[in-house]
Amino acid sequence: MRRKPVEVKSVLITGTTSGLGRGLLQHYAEQAVKVISVNRGRVAELEAQYPSVRFECVDVRSAEGVESLVRDLAASGDLPDVFILNAGINRLDNDEAFDLPLYREVIETNLYGALNFIAPLTRVPSTGVARHIVAISSMVNYAGNPYGLGYYTSKKALTACFDVWADMYAQTDLVFKQVMLGPVQTAIYTMGDQLPRWMVRIKSLSSASLDGTVRAISRFARTRKRKLIYPLRALPAFGAMWLGRRLIPGFFQGRKTLDGRARRRPSADRDPMR
Ligand SMILES: NC(=O)c1ccc[n+]([C@@H]2O[C@H](COP(=O)([O-])OP(=O)(O)OC[C@H]3O[C@@H](n4cnc5c(N)ncnc54)[C@H](OP(=O)(O)O)[C@@H]3O)[C@@H](O)[C@H]2O)c1
Repeated sequence: MRRKPVEVKSVLITGTTSGLGRGLLQHYAEQAVKVISVNRGRVAELEAQYPSVRFECVDVRSAEGVESLVRDLAASGDLPDVFILNAGINRLDNDEAFDLPLYREVIETNLYGALNFIAPLTRVPSTGVARHIVAISSMVNYAGNPYGLGYYTSKKALTACFDVWADMYAQTDLVFKQVMLGPVQTAIYTMGDQLPRWMVRIKSLSSASLDGTVRAISRFARTRKRKLIYPLRALPAFGAMWLGRRLIPGFFQGRKTLDGRARRRPSADRDPMR
């Protein structure tokens, strides 16, 4: 039986200082939905602009900080009906050499930053009220960037965890779902202040608008669907990349450094077929 979309009364969003999180905060605040915003620092301008929003200062990498927030919300009856686990970072951690500290920072933010919410949420006694937990994953699952290995592998692991939980908690009050997001026009993607204007224009043309993405995610958050692939038109590009890697030797496999130099010296016993 198909269930009707739920009416969202309250939502918790991580990472609302910029990009998608900020767009979602604005969207829900305008709809008079109770918003709990979770950021690692205070942003006075943001707090002044949205007086109705409850701002919590928690670094999502802190399991203790997140657990204590979830416990407090549960104890005061303020657990929201939607969680949007959006906070994320991307770093070049695998170019000249594999940079372990950078890789760890990405995994701790993108993967543990979401998982830290799940551990306490699965312990909160069930009240019969559905809690929709939305992970913002990525289409890099289909063809990841070898130079941003932390980003690629964090989103792969996040998706695998949410796939498992979606099955495991099916028909219960915990509804696990995820957004497989393609390029969206946020600063993290367009890099408008660092790239030439023509390149920013091309990137903008091939990516989804922030407003459209916010609307798509908020519509999805009200349903029991497990996955949203957005924007769908970006999927063929990832498919082409996936295919290119398998068919074209060396294609986007990180065999050269980003500035085009060969990666280390060839070994004497290298495979002549490759
Ligand atoms: N834009 C895209 O094309 C795209 C594509 C696929 C998936 N995504 C995903 O969408 C999500 C949002 O990305 P975006 O494009 O909106 O990027 P963004 O503008 O850089 O926003 C990221 C947000 O995460 C916050 N954050 C980072 N580390 C945090 C931490 N330890 N604790 C709490 N908050 C933290 C940032 O806050 P600070 O101000 O404190 O840094 C910021 O508010 C990410 O998960 C990203 O992987 C984006």
